[in-house]
Amino acid sequence: MEDKKWWKQAVIYQIYPRSFQDSNHDGIGDLKGIIRRLDYLSLLGVDAIWLSPVYRSPQDDNGYDISDYRDIDPMFGTIEDMEALIEEAGKRNIRIIMDLVLNHSSDEHSWFQEAKKSRENPYHDYYVWRDGTPQDTPNDMQSVFGGSAWEWVPEVGQYYFHQFSVKQPDLNWENEKVRRELYNIILWWMEKGLGGFRLDTADQIAKDPDLRVTNNGPRLHEFIQEMSRETFQKADLVTVGEAWGADIERAKIYSNPDGSEFSMVFQFEHMLLDQQEGKGKWDLAPLPFLRFKEVLNRWQTELFECGWNSLFWNNHDLPRIVSRWGDEGRYRIESAKMLATLLYGMQGTPYIYQGEELGMTNVEYDIEEYRDIETLHMYRERMEKGYTRQEIMHSIYAKSRDNARTPMQWNEEENAGFTEGMPWMKVNPNYTEINAKQQIKDEDSIYHYYRRLMALRQEYHVFSDDRFQLYLPEDENIFAYSRKNDIRTLLVICNFYGG
Ligand code: GLC
Ligand code: CA
Repeated sequence: MEDKKWWKQAVIYQIYPRSFQDSNHDGIGDLKGIIRRLDYLSLLGVDAIWLSPVYRSPQDDNGYDISDYRDIDPMFGTIEDMEALIEEAGKRNIRIIMDLVLNHSSDEHSWFQEAKKSRENPYHDYYVWRDGTPQDTPNDMQSVFGGSAWEWVPEVGQYYFHQFSVKQPDLNWENEKVRRELYNIILWWMEKGLGGFRLDTADQIAKDPDLRVTNNGPRLHEFIQEMSRETFQKADLVTVGEAWGADIERAKIYSNPDGSEFSMVFQFEHMLLDQQEGKGKWDLAPLPFLRFKEVLNRWQTELFECGWNSLFWNNHDLPRIVSRWGDEGRYRIESAKMLATLLYGMQGTPYIYQGEELGMTNVEYDIEEYRDIETLHMYRERMEKGYTRQEIMHSIYAKSRDNARTPMQWNEEENAGFTEGMPWMKVNPNYTEINAKQQIKDEDSIYHYYRRLMALRQEYHVFSDDRFQLYLPEDENIFAYSRKNDIRTLLVICNFYGG
């Protein structure tokens, strides 16, 4: 009997807690709010929920900067609320997956508070330090959110390394004590009965700034295998590593069927196609359709039986797919359904990001309405470099992470039913037309379409097991493929004409 992992047949729903459902009128989504909406997710048919971080955090990067890994931020609730969520979800056969941010902590974490006191402090070596002078950084590496990756600390006369914001100092994985601390945190959470973990920036943990290495450092797989052995492998979990730097060969290692690393990775090759060659996400280019087909085909074909993929169009860092590669206007409903079909017919574990099942769209706000640290840094940086405001806003409308972070649209009431307070971020004004309440009533809605697709996936093994075959690779409008076994052929034909 072939070993069958539950997560190969599962669909996972991602919640960005601060934008999902507020329960206490402070304008920020919270754990009690999620519990209130579990029936909605159960009706949709999801098997697991991935929660973006709810740990204690100063919220410099909306929780991806953790100051206490064993506590819940009061903004989201308490440990008891978290336990209640796990239990209530469990009653509905929904597992909870937590986000683990282990590449860096918050600078307000007690480890870092100690580390910066002196070079002799036992926590000093928990972070990545290099000598230099206040005028002279160790090298010119840049952080992902803009500006130098080095920050001077006069108390110790050294720089610390941060791949992300200055409030997200990188943890030193070379230090065995750090690794042990992190594994203990994972084990602590496992005891609470979690269904799994999503590993934030998993491919960046084994950095070596002297060699300018961030992704795919030399000791990366050694560390991941150790972590997996010491933690995940002790239970039946699903684990997914975020790996922007993963190619297929690496993805095979990460998702080795022997279970030595993760269940699967998030790789982004298909998500990086609509940008100019050699540039970043803000430098827009149309989606090259043939390459898009080639990339998806390659991943489907080459991981077959030697790895496992995740299937996604959206997450909290990506713009809304219906606006990106569909038609958010006249054919919004049709194109949202088509994009869902295209993805759901493939092999892998699908992820739905909150609101995707409603066909929620991107937004175009004034710059004052944006909250995302990355967007705001880029805006300032490009203004200084002399880009026009219009050019910058054009990129923001297309790619800002805040497109994904506007509050969930539940109904046509004020603030879309997300909060009775003042929402932390403006609600997309189209909530009167696009909302869950209205779509649940309408059997023809995007929501019900997703529900039926998921049910099909759970019923027919051809979705999880069988070989992918692309047709018409040179056709400029049609994306067609089949999945086939002895009993059944699944044929998917999507027409992108006009998209
Ligand atoms: C990941 C998260 C992103 C965050 C970054 C730093 O890419 O998905 O939201 O800003 O890591 O933790
Ligand atoms: Ca709240």
